[in-house]
Amino acid sequence: MLTRRAFAIGAGAAASASLLDPGFGRGEPARAVTRLPVPQLIDAAIHHNAIGLTVSAGHHEFYKGKPTRTYGYSGPILGPVLRFRRGDHVEMSVRNELGVATTVHWHGLLVPGDVDGGPQRKIEPGATWRPTLSIDQPAATLWYHPHPHHETGRQVYLGLAGLIIVEDGHDLGLPDQFGVDDLPLTIQDRVIDETDGSIGYDLSELDVVYGVRGDTVIVNGAITPTAHVPAGWVRPRLLNGSNARNFELRFQDGRTFHVIASDGGFLSRPVPMSVLRISPAERFEILVDFSGGQPVVLETGPDRSMGLFGAISDAGTDEYAPVMRFEVGSASETAGRLPSQLVEPAAIAPVEAVRRRSFVLNNGVCGQRTRMSNHDGMPALIGINGRTHDPNRIDAETKLGTSEIWEITSVGMAHPFHVHGALFRILSLDDKSPPDHLKGWKDVVLVEGKAELLVKFTKPAARGYPFMYHCHILEHEDAGMMGQYVCT
Ligand code: C2O
Ligand code: CU
Ligand code: CU
Repeated sequence: MLTRRAFAIGAGAAASASLLDPGFGRGEPARAVTRLPVPQLIDAAIHHNAIGLTVSAGHHEFYKGKPTRTYGYSGPILGPVLRFRRGDHVEMSVRNELGVATTVHWHGLLVPGDVDGGPQRKIEPGATWRPTLSIDQPAATLWYHPHPHHETGRQVYLGLAGLIIVEDGHDLGLPDQFGVDDLPLTIQDRVIDETDGSIGYDLSELDVVYGVRGDTVIVNGAITPTAHVPAGWVRPRLLNGSNARNFELRFQDGRTFHVIASDGGFLSRPVPMSVLRISPAERFEILVDFSGGQPVVLETGPDRSMGLFGAISDAGTDEYAPVMRFEVGSASETAGRLPSQLVEPAAIAPVEAVRRRSFVLNNGVCGQRTRMSNHDGMPALIGINGRTHDPNRIDAETKLGTSEIWEITSVGMAHPFHVHGALFRILSLDDKSPPDHLKGWKDVVLVEGKAELLVKFTKPAARGYPFMYHCHILEHEDAGMMGQYVCT
């Protein structure tokens, strides 16, 4: 049996594709917000490098008059954008008013294991966590989200996610007016009950095996919103904040845009593209030319990365669904530009790798059968190298200052693999060299078959607070497709 959610994937795509006004006249009930919400910007430098966040539950309207119970950082849903400068030491203070334990993980931030916010770094209800974050990496778009074991999927789904912008003082002349031509866009999918606005997170077996997927795309917490942008170059900072879904983004008019940065920072030069796949937890910064003045819809294609299940549920649907719309005003006086060169990332020398490890990610699907953990006494098959996550087991020991080649193999479906506390370069994807937009520093990679990564360890993590590596399909992570490593 397909679940409601599973069914929604195919049905949702087909339904929105049939609308003449794609999604913007979405009938009943009315969307609560039509203009793109821009999160608050908290610039650490302006706040003397001390920032407080409160994690709490609240209410947010996706649909008018139907408040949804959600979670958020210092607000009812999502969180402020935090801006950090390289070289600064930022004192964070995170108060947990959720009523349940949480953690805050700084995804992509290169900090030691004890302040990384992994599953061991629990903030109990009513408690406040005060890590100092030493910012020590090039400019990049990162994010923060909860990481309590078995609970990450639910807490993110209910709304916990925020962006981080790291700046390093290099001025490339890019658009940089926050919320105007430098636009944070957190793209997610949800199943929202249209009668009462609720979002549920009760997992079926299929949800665990394939990840929770929704039929409604939200951007910064709003359904198909409209952004008003100046004529000229605009720089969306894209985050796929979904639990499981890959987006395949393109503009409806087929225009070319330029990818300028991936997870870990700038590429060496802009990469022109017209379709961009972005997997859970991945970030890309792109530059889009709006000087022509025409409004345009950003849309996403069906997720083709679900293995056997995708072949069933997406059969026959090749349709794109709207994500958001851009309307163009007059040109801004301080417009940024598209540079021809960005930043040359350090050359990669795989020979310097001190060892090779291999990780096989399995979501429990072998052939046509799905097998869940402990069924008939069988061991869990959602895991890495045949083992499910054990917080008391260190899976790998690495040496600070070295690099290793990690070979990742996906079984059952494509898995977005993520490493904490380190950045990597993709050496190969299915034995081929990666496309240009995946040649820079990364911390997440969608592995369809096999990927070879050169992972560089620059931050320490001891036994009490090891770094995690895991599939960023949050239901897989929660089910145990996660391991941990120390770095000394
Ligand atoms: Cu985005 Cu282990 O995290
Ligand atoms: Cu992370
Ligand atoms: Cu996975």
